Amino acid sequence: MPWRVGPERRKAGERPDPYRVWLSEVMLQQTTVAAVRDPFRRFTERWPDVTALAAAEDGEVMAEWAGLGYYARARNLLKCARAVAASGGRFPETREALLPLPGIGRYTAAAVAAIAFDEPATVVDGNVERVLARLFAVRAPLPAARPELFDLAARITPAVRPGDFAQAMMDLGATICTPRNPACGLCPLRPACAARADGIAADLPLKAPKPEKPTRRGIAFVGLRKDGAVLLERRPDRGLLGGMLGWPGSDWAETEPVSAPPAAGAWQEIPGEVRHTFTHFHLRLSVMTARLPLDTRPRRGDFLPRAAFRPASMPTVMRKIHDLASAAFAED
Ligand code: ADE
Repeated sequence: MPWRVGPERRKAGERPDPYRVWLSEVMLQQTTVAAVRDPFRRFTERWPDVTALAAAEDGEVMAEWAGLGYYARARNLLKCARAVAASGGRFPETREALLPLPGIGRYTAAAVAAIAFDEPATVVDGNVERVLARLFAVRAPLPAARPELFDLAARITPAVRPGDFAQAMMDLGATICTPRNPACGLCPLRPACAARADGIAADLPLKAPKPEKPTRRGIAFVGLRKDGAVLLERRPDRGLLGGMLGWPGSDWAETEPVSAPPAAGAWQEIPGEVRHTFTHFHLRLSVMTARLPLDTRPRRGDFLPRAAFRPASMPTVMRKIHDLASAAFAED
């Protein structure tokens, strides 16, 4: 993991770069290390320090963030970079002082303080909760068990190398103490693990049943001008996929969707639908396409020239719409 500084380099006096630690922690929320590796590399090549990121344009950062989801995080990332740059370009060095920054919650503040600044802060994410629930055989279900698990983590967080401890716990959860089929035979904590002793490691943590996700429906319009330009619309800053570029369309609701097309044209519904699942709902979209004349004046959105259009810079659901529509355009 490119943001880490291993024991050899630590001994030689090298310290983790707080900018890289913060960036990786924000990216890793709700995502896996594998999904973060490429975006992390692109961000740090393009914006090598917090001052550079603070000077970036919003749209560029949102485009690089595409695919990582939870776009409010990208907007807060930029706000945070600008706040840090405005106060001299150095990150605050304690959990307390990090907490007021935009997008930095309890977890991120503790992780950055521990990893970058050696503060013995208590760092607990979902993986660590699982390790703790098993290590101490906590039978109370999540999320109610959360405070108890946090207290247990605080009790075993060492004063020495707290950042390495936190990351070791995360790695254990990601690789050995996995949700299903934990590899207890490989686990360095096996002699101490209460759930293992009781034969219930794989059953923990217990989870309170989650309410079912509702299904929302909508219509998306993919308009292609005769010169190849595409009709896109920037979403409002607030709300789902806020600030991201996407296809114009209806609202997404549990009722039958209705929407006027974003420009006059011979719109046709294409076969198939796009499905995507967000945190709180499933989405099913029908897709309308049209080839639009050169003199089209859209009611909504703006044409983006073909050369400037990068589907990879759009949120995943918008890319799925693009993929379905391209297949249809290719056929006619
Ligand atoms: N998940 C979140 N932060 C992490 C880190 N620093 N190392 C490994 N996994 C993580």
